[in-house]
Amino acid sequence: MRSTDILEKLHNIDRECWLISRSISVLEWDQDTYLPENAVEERSEQLGLLGGISQDIKTNPEIGRLLSELGSSSENMSGDEKLPVLEQNFLKIMRRKYDQAIKLPRDFGCELAKARGLSQAAWIRAKQNNDFAAFLPHLKKMVDFSRQKAFHLGYEKEPYNGLLDYYEKGMSAEAISDVFIPLKNNLKSFLKKIKILPRPDTSFLKKVYNIENQDNFSRDLLKRLGFNSKRGRLDISAHPFTSTLGSDDVRITTRYLSQYVQSGIFATIHEAGHAFYEMGFPEEIRLSCLADGPSMGIHESQSRLWENVIGRSLPFWEGMFPVLRSYFPGALSSTTAEDFYRAINLVEPSLIRIEADEVSYSLHIILRFELEKEIISGTLDPAELPDAWRRKMNEYLGIEPDNDVQGVLQDVHWSTGAFGYFPSYALGNIYGLQFWEKLTSEIPNLSEQICRGNFSPIHSWLQDNIYIWGSRLDPPDLLKTVTGKGLSAEPFLGYIESKYKDIYK
Ligand code: CO
Repeated sequence: MRSTDILEKLHNIDRECWLISRSISVLEWDQDTYLPENAVEERSEQLGLLGGISQDIKTNPEIGRLLSELGSSSENMSGDEKLPVLEQNFLKIMRRKYDQAIKLPRDFGCELAKARGLSQAAWIRAKQNNDFAAFLPHLKKMVDFSRQKAFHLGYEKEPYNGLLDYYEKGMSAEAISDVFIPLKNNLKSFLKKIKILPRPDTSFLKKVYNIENQDNFSRDLLKRLGFNSKRGRLDISAHPFTSTLGSDDVRITTRYLSQYVQSGIFATIHEAGHAFYEMGFPEEIRLSCLADGPSMGIHESQSRLWENVIGRSLPFWEGMFPVLRSYFPGALSSTTAEDFYRAINLVEPSLIRIEADEVSYSLHIILRFELEKEIISGTLDPAELPDAWRRKMNEYLGIEPDNDVQGVLQDVHWSTGAFGYFPSYALGNIYGLQFWEKLTSEIPNLSEQICRGNFSPIHSWLQDNIYIWGSRLDPPDLLKTVTGKGLSAEPFLGYIESKYKDIYK
């Protein structure tokens, strides 16, 4: 067979994978938004069936044969060097996905899925009853499964590296520690300095904000940000998320709290950042495995750029505040854009990760990274987690939970066995500011454009420099290609310093 024919066969299989996984996304999106209560059971049967079909397509030995014929192996994933670079990138991703799919034995996958379901249910109960001990046996099981998963997938030096590599290709515990340690030390001392300064006034944020008006504002905001409502939509869910249901169908969700107006605003902007990325992949990689971010952390860099760097900036609110006030003339009658900007950037160590400000957020992640690394390596017994958690909270943030609900039981991740996932969040901040540093050096009068509500130069830059690659480059290569540099927390720290110096004078 000619290589073009083999490629065509592989592209057809890949397209089937895309179509079926997007179909699964339709059902999942519906489950998380509008599914009637009594339909839950049948829906999970539907999802189970499609999941099995999807698994069969992904593990079809035909894929392995076709890849080998084009010279792609686990050692040389990209295959024949004479092929066009785009096709080599395609082979690399296909090979990686195929290897991952066949390396995890089917029995292992089934057992893990079952244990995960039980573990998650136990976690929900434990959280309701503040009962870590009841969750502990499940947690131990998930640690065990994660070690086995690392063993199946393969790793260098320590099993935790195998788990990291699964979520953040090319990252190791060592490389992450190299940036997390200076980040931790700087943020800790920065937090200490801010703590003794006068706190911005946030009283107007606690007023009652009509939910319908919040929703109208979110929709207005999305339009102004450049969200194409012909290729996506906004709905409400308990936990905001972005889901790609098709290459022209990217759904985002948000949630509104009547006495916490910023929650809905920033959830909407965050998810819009994910959606812009998903909508921005170029024509030539549509409906393929390349139409994706290369990792969770890179995806998160895009959402956080929009949410924090753009959405929590003064120029942004100088332009957008009058719009917001027109929806809430009562609550915001005596508030200025600058008051609002200072209030939404309040720095206050909190026990809960998802409520954390930009300064303390990464400390929450570093704490989790350090603990899970020790748990997977076996130097920390899961039974010791609550105490270790409290100690680190005290050391990093100067506060301590008096129960496990606000401590070690707060996040769902470990209950599902997602060890190695947390670092992506902090990496998102780091990547994001590295990209932003480059972007600001290439777009003149950026603050002025943001203030005027003209986001198209930002969209174009992200499109031309980041979206264009899809998942073709692994995170370290994408970083190098875009910025010319390796991973560094310096731009993020520089941004934090100058922003908060300004806010806290
Ligand atoms: Co996100």
